[in-house]
Amino acid sequence: MQKIVVEGGLPLNGEVQISGAKNAVLPILCATLLADGPVDIGNVPHLHDVITTAKLLGELGAGITIDEGTLGKGRSITVDPTTVHSHVAPYELVKTMRASVLVLGPLLAKYGQAEVSLPGGCAIGSRPVDQHIKGLQALGAEISVDHGFIKAHRNGRLKGARFVFDVVSVTGTENVLMAAALAEGTSVLENAAMEPEVVDLADCLNAMGAQVENAGSGRIIVHGVERLHGGSHQVLPDRIETGTFLVAAAMTGGRVTTRRSRADTLDAVLEKLRQAGAEITVEDDRITLDMHGRRPRAVDLVTAPYPAFPTDMQAQFMALNCIAEGAGVINETIFENRFMHVNELLRLGADIRVDGHTAVVRGVEKLSGAPVMATDLRASASLILAGLVADGETTIDRIYHLDRGYENIEEKLSGLGARIRRIS
Ligand code: UD1
Repeated sequence: MQKIVVEGGLPLNGEVQISGAKNAVLPILCATLLADGPVDIGNVPHLHDVITTAKLLGELGAGITIDEGTLGKGRSITVDPTTVHSHVAPYELVKTMRASVLVLGPLLAKYGQAEVSLPGGCAIGSRPVDQHIKGLQALGAEISVDHGFIKAHRNGRLKGARFVFDVVSVTGTENVLMAAALAEGTSVLENAAMEPEVVDLADCLNAMGAQVENAGSGRIIVHGVERLHGGSHQVLPDRIETGTFLVAAAMTGGRVTTRRSRADTLDAVLEKLRQAGAEITVEDDRITLDMHGRRPRAVDLVTAPYPAFPTDMQAQFMALNCIAEGAGVINETIFENRFMHVNELLRLGADIRVDGHTAVVRGVEKLSGAPVMATDLRASASLILAGLVADGETTIDRIYHLDRGYENIEEKLSGLGARIRRIS
């Protein structure tokens, strides 16, 4: 099994190009199922989750063409959904990637039926899909959960409706939004997720002829249309990847510029980095973080739905607090079990105390390199960040988590001067 070895101690310096957003490209790939013709998606990141989604669409019968692109121009994928013949998302694929549940809404709306294996538990919490199901039922779908499968069908077209989400759910909002795009009449989705990835999905749907308004607000309005056509869309830059590189720069006392990034999607993260003592300048699609060789100050944070501080950046900021001046309190409100990186950070010499959903982190002068194990995607990133500032070598095992969500992370970090390599 592959591992990543990091030798700590060097400040990061230079420029790094940000890839397309994982959490945008996955729903967008699923949305192509709604179209009557091929959809061309650009700025697609090289990620394991993208391959899994392409496999799933292929299994449903869609034609998939991947263009690796030229240097500096990301990969693009064209999905031709006109050959879809199956409506079943099997357990083998769904269990490896929870986002597979995003085919539920499109299959149901377009083909009248869908069978999607229940995603089940996952390392960071139980993560139910009740909001997806209730939202689709509000549009008139009949849904049962049988033998581990969500089985959905409709009689006639789905009907536009007003639906209020009990909890803010990103993929829940996306599933219901995609289904509403082909429903008869207008739907109003209240307490909808406001994440930039939801907006990117809505932009893609509108490029296919949908009529979605107010995405990015908590009240999305969808005027259903009879059909969607093929089209093209460029995926927005990954704000979590951007944030991860900026935290790496801050922790190492370096100066890093992210290219092809979107500062307007990172307000809460940039604010925390400024509190940590970083100087941040934004110019068009470039964000520069300069730490001027200083040690960061510890920050307090509370994770919450966008535009508040993202849970997907919690582990990276915990790593930052581990070596910062002072102490920071981290409160995780989204997922019940998202502190699994704590035990691994402790192995590197961190001082962290966890009480329920709260972690108190006291910065230490130095972490010391050790073998550690990645437990989920963002936890893996936090261990690499910690390795960048630890004495000696840190070896990170189970990095398949990392390959699900970060494109070429070790190459990108090497380009900034880090000593990092992948071994088998
Ligand atoms: C998405 C992101 C993930 C991010 C998370 C929160 C994708 C592919 N993944 O995951 O990276 O960490 O948003 O920003 O976009 N919940 C329910 N019932 C539901 C659905 C969710 O109770 O039907 C709860 C969850 O258990 C969790 C909270 O709502 O406590 C938020 O989850 P949700 O926004 O749905 O996360 P995902 O969409 O799975």
